[in-house]
Amino acid sequence: MQNKLKVGIIGMGVGESHIEGFQRHSGCEVVALCDFSDDKFRMCNEKYPHMKITMNDDDILQDTEIDIVSIASYDNYHYEQIIKALGNEKHVFVEKPLCMYESEAIEIREQIKSNPDLKLSSNLILRQSPRFLYVKNLIEEETFGELYYLESDYNYGRINKITDGWRGKLNFYSVVYGGGVHVVDLLLWLTGETIVEVFSYGNNISTKNSRFKYNDFVVSILKFKSGIVGKTACNMGCAFPHFHTLAVYGTKATFVNGFDKGLLFESRTHNDKPTVITEEYPGVEKGDLLLNFVDSIINNKQLIVDVDDVFRTMSVCFAMEKSMNLSKAVKVTYL
Ligand SMILES: NC(=O)c1ccc[n+]([C@@H]2O[C@H](COP(=O)([O-])OP(=O)(O)OC[C@H]3O[C@@H](n4cnc5c(N)ncnc54)[C@H](O)[C@@H]3O)[C@@H](O)[C@H]2O)c1
Repeated sequence: MQNKLKVGIIGMGVGESHIEGFQRHSGCEVVALCDFSDDKFRMCNEKYPHMKITMNDDDILQDTEIDIVSIASYDNYHYEQIIKALGNEKHVFVEKPLCMYESEAIEIREQIKSNPDLKLSSNLILRQSPRFLYVKNLIEEETFGELYYLESDYNYGRINKITDGWRGKLNFYSVVYGGGVHVVDLLLWLTGETIVEVFSYGNNISTKNSRFKYNDFVVSILKFKSGIVGKTACNMGCAFPHFHTLAVYGTKATFVNGFDKGLLFESRTHNDKPTVITEEYPGVEKGDLLLNFVDSIINNKQLIVDVDDVFRTMSVCFAMEKSMNLSKAVKVTYL
């Protein structure tokens, strides 16, 4: 009991589901929760009376007893909380996005480099979706032949979260960092490839009469090093349920994701029926990466989303945002 790693979680929205995720690993225990809202503070005190409950994140970030900090605060707080946590020798699991600006990511990268024993990961959860794992396996078995085009859109389906919630109240919000990051990571992970250049356009037609002042839609063409072309759209204003589209085109097969099933086409004629892929989608809970995260600390297990993955994905997202603002192609600078 005494040797268990102690966990503190900041932000009790999606962060509440981190509790259950950590509880799956017998080598750690959640000892502290933080939320600066009165309602959540009250809820935590009632629901988790055996834990330390606080409204001040420093009570977790500076607590010398705590080994792991899980950050699920609003996006604009991630950077400062990560820097403080790493500075106080804590492992960090952070909700996406890692941070809001490239300069912040550079600083976090430097801090990690100077303390390589600390683990950092981010909740890029699509890597654990059974259906996408199945597709990755098909790619590795070369069922697709040679890949040449992949597309994946992040259809948010919850427009009110950007027009009425905290996202629209921030001084800056990027739908690329806040949502697109998931599908960028999906394409990088599926292909195991590098994206070298991006070209993005955006608009805010869906939310122009709301308080949300940023583009709610960003579409990007992605140029991979090998010649593969990709496309992602971060579509936060769509009249469509929450969904991650995915299409993978290779010389021998094509996969298209649907709600209940995916379809794998291995023929160019109408008469040949595609194979129906019934692996669950999304089939993941928000805390599903935490068992592996704790295992990486205790048993040095390979991280499902390691620190390089986090920076690789963020680097592409920074280039996408930059390209949209400059209206020209931008080469990806890997941090
Ligand atoms: N991985 C995913 O798929 C996924 C899904 C949803 C949200 N998220 C991320 O999780 C984070 C939180 O989003 P959410 O949807 O849970 O929001 P939310 O509004 O539902 O909950 C956030 C909670 O954190 C508290 N909070 C925010 N900043 C705080 C701070 N500095 N100190 C203490 N408490 C703080 C708020 O009071 C609120 O209760 C965001 O970064 C978001 O991008 C990730």
